[in-house]
This record gives sequence, C-alpha cells and structure tokens, in this order.
Amino acid sequence: MANAHTLQFQEELKVDPLRREVDRIDWATVDLPDTWADHIDWTHLPDLRRVLRTLAGRERQRVRLPAQLPGSAWIPKYVLQEFHNLPNGNYSKSFSRGYAQGFDHAMLGSLKAGRRRVAEALSGAHCALDLGCGAGRQAAALREVGVGEVWGLDPSPYLLQHAARAYPQIQWVQGLAEDTGLADGQFDAVAVCFVFHELPPHYLRQALAELARITKPGARLAVLEPSPLQWSAGYRWLWRHHGWRGLYFRALARRAYEPFAGAWHQQDFAELLAEAGFTLLQEDTGCPFRFFFAQRTDDTVVNHPPQPSMDKS
Ligand SMILES: C[S@@+](CC[C@H](N)C(=O)[O-])C[C@H]1O[C@@H](n2cnc3c(N)ncnc32)[C@H](O)[C@@H]1O
Repeated sequence: MANAHTLQFQEELKVDPLRREVDRIDWATVDLPDTWADHIDWTHLPDLRRVLRTLAGRERQRVRLPAQLPGSAWIPKYVLQEFHNLPNGNYSKSFSRGYAQGFDHAMLGSLKAGRRRVAEALSGAHCALDLGCGAGRQAAALREVGVGEVWGLDPSPYLLQHAARAYPQIQWVQGLAEDTGLADGQFDAVAVCFVFHELPPHYLRQALAELARITKPGARLAVLEPSPLQWSAGYRWLWRHHGWRGLYFRALARRAYEPFAGAWHQQDFAELLAEAGFTLLQEDTGCPFRFFFAQRTDDTVVNHPPQPSMDKS
C-alpha cells in the first residue's frame, strides 16, 4: 500500500523525455498480452521439440515481444535473450510463472538464507530498492526485516505481475538497472540478488553509476551473486570442498544460459564499486554464493548492523 511519502514521491517521479515515462501501471491487474511461448501446443511435435531443445540448451532464439507489451520499445537487446534456457526468456506468462517458482528449487533452497543475509545487511533502512526484483522474493525479505518502504524494479512485465500479485504492499516499477527512471537520492539501501552477472560489463558500470545517483549519501548496497567457485573450480576440488552440492552447482552454472556470467566473474567488482563512489566493506565467497556489502562513499556514513555470517547449508 502506498504511504504519504510514496504518493508524494510518485508525483515527483522524473520523466526521461528521451525515452519513456516511469510507469504508473498497476502490475497486479494490468492485462498483459500473451507471447508465442504462451501458445505452445504440447501435442504438436515441432512445438514440443523446440521447447525441449531450448530447455536442454541446444537451441536458442531472440526473445520476441508483442508490440503492445509495456517496455517493448525500450527493453534492450541484451536483455531479450533466452536466459536460463527458458523459451522466450523471462517474457511469457507461463514460463515466467514456472521460473518464479523453479528458481528457488533449482538453487536447492539456498536462496532463502542468501536473501535473508542481503535483507539483514540492509535492516534499519527507511526506503530500499530491490534491483532486478524478478518475482519479488528479495523485496519481500526486505519487508520481513522491517524496512518500511520497499520498491522492486525489473524490466519484465510478466515477472512484475507475479511479484505484484504476491506482495501488494511493495511498489513495483518497470525499468533497467542502468536506467531506472527513479529520482535522485531516494533510497538509503539497495538489494541486488542474482542480477549483476546478467549484465554486460558496460551496462554494469552504468548500473553502478545509476545506483550512486538514486541513493542517499551513506546508502548501503548488499549484493548476492553466483560464486565464481562453481564457474571455475574443477569437479574434483568442488567434490572435496562442497560435496555433491558443489558438483550440482557447477553443472547448473554450465548448463543454464547466462551469456555474461563469464565476464562478470572476471571483473574486479571492488574497483567498479569504487569508480561509482561505493566502498566495498565486506566480501565473501562460498558455494553457491558470493556476497558483497558496500556503502556509498560520502561524508555522511550511516551506522550499519553487524554482519551475520552466511548460512551456506
Ligand atoms: C536471476 S533473476 C533474479 C530475480 C530476483 N532478484 C530474485 O532474487 O529472485 C535476474 C533478474 O534480473 C532482471 N534483469 C535482467 N536485466 C536487467 C537489467 N538491465 N536491469 C534490471 N533487471 C534486470 C531479470 O528480468 C530477472 O528478473
């Protein structure tokens, strides 16, 4: 539910005249058009073959959007790929619903602890953003630790719809990490859960600059991303240090289509943060997560709570 501050803020939302208006769509009720992936005929062999080949990572096409879909004019091409081997990526009613439920299962339930860690790092914030919110679970975790005003932003209208229906008390907006359309200095905390590894390096830089713009001095940033261990360590090492889960997460990292994950793992994130005006205060790498905690560098430093250690089970 929107509070007075939010309503006032919504009035003040900036409009980018060159590109788009910040949406005021009610994502829970808006009638979204079907995409081709919603019309798969499971009894039609060519359809079935196409879906199975996509899910197995053997075939890939560009995501196609209906012209009347919100964002179809500005969602960039790098986003419109069949991430995670999903037919039409995050852009269909049916597969986005499956993804909203399946992502946590695919991560063997570990995301609950991961998201809780991100949320606890930001507890005490007044106004927090969940960047790349997907179906909204990280945003919900922020509410659970008592953050009063929570916003979630994602380019996919289909994921926003799942999020808005599940968590009506959160503000949902369509946008991009590198171009949120939100106003300067609104947030004192930002959560990012499994998003930065989906951005090409150039856009990651822009996204960090955008976060510096939309946060207040001293704002906290907590980031959870896949660990580089399951990306680069060998099966033998993973087996020795992380058992069958290590092997599983390595196989998952190799099978799921994530075209920018390799580039992400090679970047010096501390340096990128520093360039954008954030100081990295904590980083730890386990399996399957890598966690970062940073603060916007400024004269005003807010107190942050002590960091709980990650439950890696
Ligand atoms: C792996 S999902 C994670 C979703 C969510 N954070 C969670 O914890 O379940 C990645 C999300 O990033 C979103 N995304 C991809 N490119 C983006 C961009 N440029 N800006 C913002 N979000 C983006 C996708 O639409 C998707 O919802």
